[in-house]
This record gives sequence, C-alpha cells and structure tokens, in this order.
Amino acid sequence: MIRTKIDYGIDLGTTNSAISRMENGTIRIIKSLDTQKDTTPSCIAVNQKGNLFVGDKAYLNYRSNSLKNLSNNTSFNSYIEFKRTMGTDKKYHSSFAEKDFSSEELSAEVLKRLKEYVQDENISAVIVTVPAAFKNNQIDATRKAAQLAGFSHIEVLQEPVAASMAYGLENLNKDGFWLVFDFGGGTFDTALLKVEDGIMRVVDTEGDNYLGGKNLDFAIVDQLILPHIQDRFSIHNILSDDKRKAEFRNALKFFAEEIKNNLSFNASHNIYVDPGDCGEDDEGEEIDIDLTITQEDLARILTPVFQRAVDLSLKLIERNNLKGSDLESLILVGGPTLSPILRKMLESQIRKPDTNVDPMTVVSKGAALYASTIDIAEDIIETTRDKTKIQLEIGSEASTVETEEFITIKILEDKTEGAIPEKVFAEIKRGDNAWSSGKIEIDTKGEIIDVHLEEGKTNIFKITLYDNQGNSLECQPNTFTIIQGSKIGNSTLPYNWGVEILSESSGKVVFQSAEGLEKNKSLPAIGVINGLKTQKQIRPGMDSDFIKIPLYQGEHNADGTRAIYNDHVYDIIISGSDLPTLLPENSQVDLTISIDRSQEVSVEAFFPYIEYTTEIKVPTNTVQSTDTD
Ligand SMILES: Nc1ncnc2c1ncn2[C@@H]1O[C@H](COP(=O)(O)OP(=O)(O)OP(=O)(O)O)[C@@H](O)[C@H]1O
Ligand SMILES: [Mg+2]
Repeated sequence: MIRTKIDYGIDLGTTNSAISRMENGTIRIIKSLDTQKDTTPSCIAVNQKGNLFVGDKAYLNYRSNSLKNLSNNTSFNSYIEFKRTMGTDKKYHSSFAEKDFSSEELSAEVLKRLKEYVQDENISAVIVTVPAAFKNNQIDATRKAAQLAGFSHIEVLQEPVAASMAYGLENLNKDGFWLVFDFGGGTFDTALLKVEDGIMRVVDTEGDNYLGGKNLDFAIVDQLILPHIQDRFSIHNILSDDKRKAEFRNALKFFAEEIKNNLSFNASHNIYVDPGDCGEDDEGEEIDIDLTITQEDLARILTPVFQRAVDLSLKLIERNNLKGSDLESLILVGGPTLSPILRKMLESQIRKPDTNVDPMTVVSKGAALYASTIDIAEDIIETTRDKTKIQLEIGSEASTVETEEFITIKILEDKTEGAIPEKVFAEIKRGDNAWSSGKIEIDTKGEIIDVHLEEGKTNIFKITLYDNQGNSLECQPNTFTIIQGSKIGNSTLPYNWGVEILSESSGKVVFQSAEGLEKNKSLPAIGVINGLKTQKQIRPGMDSDFIKIPLYQGEHNADGTRAIYNDHVYDIIISGSDLPTLLPENSQVDLTISIDRSQEVSVEAFFPYIEYTTEIKVPTNTVQSTDTD
C-alpha cells in the first residue's frame, strides 16, 4: 500500500518501548514478535559470540547476570536505561562485541527491533516520542538513533502531548483543562492542556528528567531490602566499597521492582531469594532474603518520591492560576501510575485520576495518531509509487471539529506511467457507505470536493476513479482519513530560546529571549533577536574573523537571568567566509531562529549595514560530556 501520512509512532521509553500504527482508521499496537506483548523492554544484551539481543530476552539476561555477578565477578554485556544518557558521551563497553556503544547506538537497536515487528511493509518514516523536558542535544541524539535504525523521515513529539492526543480521541466531549501525569521508568513529565470545542492546546509543561520508577526501586532497596539483609548478615564491607555497593543495589533492584509492581494489585507481597542467589556476605555466608511487604510499608517509602512529582504538578497548576478542582481530567501515563498509593495521593491533592486509558501504551498510540496527520516526505512516497496506477494528490485536513471539510484532488500526470483517459471521474465514498460524493470530473489542475463527516469518528474515505464509459481505473492513493471531533494539536516548545548578551545595565552576561520562541509556543515557531552588535570587524573570506553568539534554552522567566543558569545549546558562529564584504566593528546583527514542529533548528543572520542575509549551519552533534546518572 502507499502511505501518504507517517502513520507510525514509537514510544522510545527508558524501561519499555512500543510501536503503534494507524490502520484503517484505528490505532493498533504492534505486538512484539517473540512474546506478543504490547511493550518491549528497552534492554540490549550481547552474548559471548558477539550476537546482539533486544527486548525480553535481553532483559532476562540482564537480570540473571546482575545476580550472577554478585557471586562470581563475571563480565556481562547487557544494558538498560541508556535513554538517561542520550546526548552525552557516555559509552557502554561490550567485551564480547569488542566495542563501545553510545546511547544512540543502543537506542537504535531498540528502534530497529520495533521496526522488525512490522512484518507487512517496510517503513522509513516515523514519529518518535521524547520527554517534554528533553533538551536540544537529547532530541538530536534521539533523531540520530532513528537514523541509525534506518528511518529516513523522523519527527519527534513530546510524550505528554502524544498521551493527551490519544486520550482526546476517546474522550471527545471533555472541554476544559487536562493534566497529563507521566511517571515513567526514568523521567517525570507533566503537562497542562486546554481543550476547547475539541481543539487541544498545550498550555504549559513541567518535568524532571531524573525522576522515575528507578527512584522508587532504589528507595525500596535502601529502606526495606538492605536493612532486612543487614539485620541478618554482615555486609559492611560490601557497602563501604562503592563499586560493590552499586552492583549489590543494582541486583536487589529487581526484587524491589517485583515488590513494587505486585503491590499495585495485591495487599502484600513476599519475596524469597534462595541462599547464595544474591551472593555472600563479608564472612562468606550465603545471603538469602525472605521478606513480606505490606501496602503500609510501601506507602511509607514511595510517598516521598511520588510527592516530588505531585509537587511539580501542583506547581504547574498553580503557576497557571488553577486548582486541582478546576481540571476536567487527570490522565495517567507510565507504569508507576498503576500504583494505588500514587492514585490516592493524586485524588487527595489534585483530583481523581482518569483510568480509562492504558498507561503503558497511550504514548505510542498518541504518537501514531499524530503520525496519521503528518505527510510523509515526498522522496519516500516516490519510492513506494506504483506508477502503472493513476497517481493522485489529495489535500485534506487530518483532523477537524467541523462536520464538513473541503478536500482537493488532482491527477499527477508526470508521476503516472500508464495511460490517463481524456476524462476521469472520481467518486469518494465514506467508509460507512452513508455518504458519497457522486462522480465528479477531475483533472491535472485540481478539483475541490466537499466531504461530509460522521461525528466523533475516524472517517475513512475510499476513492474510485472511472473513465467516460464507467470502467473503474486503479489509482494511488485510493483512501484518505479525516478524524472528526478532535483537532489533533501541535507539538509545543518545551523551553524559552534565547542568546547570551552582555547587559549594559548590570555588566553581567545574561539570557535574552528570542521574541516568538517563548516556552509553550505552538510549533513551528519563529523567533527574532534584533540589534545584536559585532565587537570587531569581519573581513570577507577570513575564517579567523568571526563572531560567536551562544544560543541557550531556558526555563520560565529566563529573560534577564545570568546566562550560565540556563542551558547552553551551542554557539552560532558567523565568520568572514559567510560574508561577501567587510563588516565593520559595532555593526548590527539581526537573528531569526526557526524551530520546526519536530524541534529542528535553523538560524539566519541579517546584517543591515551590508544588506546581507546568511543562513547559519546549526551543529547537531551537541553531545555533552556530563555523565548524568
Ligand atoms: N504494576 C506496576 N506498578 C508499579 N510500577 C510498575 C508496574 N508495572 C511497571 N511499573 C514500573 O513502570 C516503570 C516503567 O514505566 P514505563 O514503561 O511507563 O516507563 P518508560 O516509558 O520506559 O520510561 P520514560 O517514560 O521515563 O522514558 C518501571 O519502573 C516499572 O517497574
Ligand atoms: Mg514513558
């Protein structure tokens, strides 16, 4: 089949990933090949032969190796949570493959695997979701991972925006403010949305890139499991050696996760670990665990961690002059939101959460929904055309709150190899057969047709072409889809964008916002910073003559704050080789920064003195050398 929209969405999660697609007007999760599950662990393992495994098998390997490693210091080659180091120079060493993997390469393996789940077609265009709080370098790294996985048209969408799109499709009539509460494996995102007449808009977002299920698991390890072991064994030496302590805690984390996940559905849970399965103590005694945990125990430990996320949500709501009771819905996303402890906290501090979407798959479904509204890049469509069929170009809204929409339809003569009859008629029929356009003559210039939509539904339209004698003709594409009742919104800018300037009043280097690139602007967006000044002359053609303008991402109210308190993105460099003629010292520079819907950045500089505009190359390998863990 020929796809004209991207249609595929991937939730590339810290712990679990998932792929969905739009299929005949419905969004479907594509299940994993090996286990037929909706989600796949974002885990990679390399075996001794150097072969690579992804997903459930890799996770089992990781788990058993982490435990084995406690008793016999074997080297093991399995990796998790590499999303946390995206955009950094962190390397994951594999002795079996004899190479170092970057976080992008490991993520690429997960993406490749998900791509393999699609057995009935080759895909090269995809929407990949990212946490709302991801910085520019992390988004670039995500894009790079998708390129490595063989995708050629890649766009990103923020996870909470994706989740609310999926939720919106099933809850069309809930106008008002919605809060998305996305507590994942490694990141916490919360987003406030406003929905009016089915049209969704992100008002504001908050988040913490380093708050997730992992923090819950370690809280359980440190406050329940380690004390339980310390009561019966001497592990002083293990705990005072940083490396051994880290390995020990990592291994115990699996039991913590088991406790946490089981207690989402049961009143209490017992873990029993055979002597020796988690190594020996300082005296060589085999450690065992036999521990029963109740809801009360767990609540005491998890509440402070969950509270950090609740507080960020309250801050977001209050910053927008709202109270929990003003919210129309509270949408839960992420595995840990299955916890009754959290749900009670949300109910008492914000409002009762909605539980009618699956928190594990809603992000990937939303990504596919958004994907179904975005045109595939022209060069990809070219590769999938069957030119023996009459090639059509259809222009239609992907989603609408109206009940009628105009679409355009046009024959692409130069893309069609077969014969095109002198007269061609198109008939457009709605999927439920309750509406048809009748036969309308179309040509190479384009015709406008008014289509009628069924309310609250994903409307699939089928196109049939006829010649003058009433014979049907094959065409591509032969369907299009319009979602009625909810206008799938745009992605939004997660940070203020600006540059560093020297403040004349304070003499300090401060952040100056680009007008038009304030946080939460709907994307694409264009920002301008006018009146910057060059500090020295720039001679044409001279690389050694340049000006440097540091570009920053900042939080709310970043304007006027010290530049170093914000996030440096990269330096815009304008050198003599960018200019045709001499630019004197103290010349004015006006910057235009454009950010597309997928957060790709392009910059233009205009020099009024020489009336010249130059496009500035934006570096994409903006890797940071911090190892953030
Ligand atoms: N039943 C459950 N109760 C509580 N927590 C659970 C349950 N099932 C899974 N989790 C936890 O959910 C977390 C993973 O959640 P999820 O798959 O939503 O994260 P992710 O999308 O991979 O991460 P992120 O969105 O941060 O990138 C893990 O910490 C896991 O232990
Ligand atoms: Mg997630």
